[in-house]
Amino acid sequence: MLTEFTKLAEVGDLAPGQMRTIRLGREYVLLARLGEEYFALDGFCSHADGFLADGYLHEDYCEVECPIHEGAFDLRTGAVTNPPAEVPVVAYEIRIEGSDILAGPRA
Ligand code: FES
Repeated sequence: MLTEFTKLAEVGDLAPGQMRTIRLGREYVLLARLGEEYFALDGFCSHADGFLADGYLHEDYCEVECPIHEGAFDLRTGAVTNPPAEVPVVAYEIRIEGSDILAGPRA
């Protein structure tokens, strides 16, 4: 889990509707872009460790669907929005500093 704000990428690295896994040492973070907004969650599904970035973005619901068993999470909060996942994933706060996209603990 990220304990301080850390650079994930640069503005423009992701097109709208894209997401990817960012590896930071032993941490894996999902970075997703919807429109001009960026979201960051723990990179692994809480159900059985699927890589969330290999799943699907549902823009209308602001959620990501896991590729393994269709569990889904709210990109804003990490809350479960579809079973079989039951445990939320960590959601990070995003900051844009210059051209850098940073993620860190939510206030
Ligand atoms: S691993 Fe993600 S829903 Fe099962």
